[in-house]
Amino acid sequence: MNTLLLQISDPHFGAERKAVCDALRRLVQEQTPRVLLLSGDITQRARPAQFAAARAFVDSLRIPQCMTLPGNHDIPLFNAAVRLFAPYSAYRRAFGRSHDAVLDSDGLRLIGLDSTRRWRHVNGELSPDQIAATSRHLREAPVGVLRVVALHHPVAVTRAAEGHNRVRRHADAIDRWLQAGADLIVGGHIHLPSVRFLEAGGRHGWAVLAGTAVSRRTRHDAGNSVNLIRCAQVGLRRVGAVERWDYREEAKHFELAALSALPLSG
Ligand SMILES: [Fe+2]
Ligand SMILES: [Fe+2]
Repeated sequence: MNTLLLQISDPHFGAERKAVCDALRRLVQEQTPRVLLLSGDITQRARPAQFAAARAFVDSLRIPQCMTLPGNHDIPLFNAAVRLFAPYSAYRRAFGRSHDAVLDSDGLRLIGLDSTRRWRHVNGELSPDQIAATSRHLREAPVGVLRVVALHHPVAVTRAAEGHNRVRRHADAIDRWLQAGADLIVGGHIHLPSVRFLEAGGRHGWAVLAGTAVSRRTRHDAGNSVNLIRCAQVGLRRVGAVERWDYREEAKHFELAALSALPLSG
């Protein structure tokens, strides 16, 4: 397995737990992922000091390649002027860019999308142009690589009660992206990790959500966790593996809690 992607979602710097940050740094030292995906809600309130703390933490991980995506918490909530005219200014000062991007690494094409909207507050949206451009990037991916689309908001959830949290135009996105070759569509936002089967037009893929990595904003049934995503060639077939690593309060470190072996379409 040469693809190794670490997904850190919803760290909410400003509400981060120092012991969990330290444990995550140790996990990175042990697992040495090649690529970091930071899938939004990087901060709690989009304050410059919170972005600076997040940036310092990311730098301390020393992962060779990194993609960051904004979440709804990374846009100011209360400052209406900044929200309207420069909603991503603090984000950009820390992380450089907030728009859609493509990252190629050994065995991986990662396509990142900004699903936040300054006028939609908590909820996310995909534009028809984003859906179409992502389909193109998927079709143009090198042969045999793991094709991953990432956005902060979920395209699919495992609990019906969470359905309202799905990104706007999620059904169209799933349909078009699977047919264009997507293997995984990854996100966060609801702080509830899950893996869900997707199917469209004779192809299949998987919706993968990560929990909140290091924040105090955990749910009663899901603590802090991150995902490690791998891809392997088994004979003629490609298999993806999503490892969920949970933070253990007693031991103060991350442990492998769930392993999903995911058959991929050809
Ligand atoms: Fe969040
Ligand atoms: Fe969010």
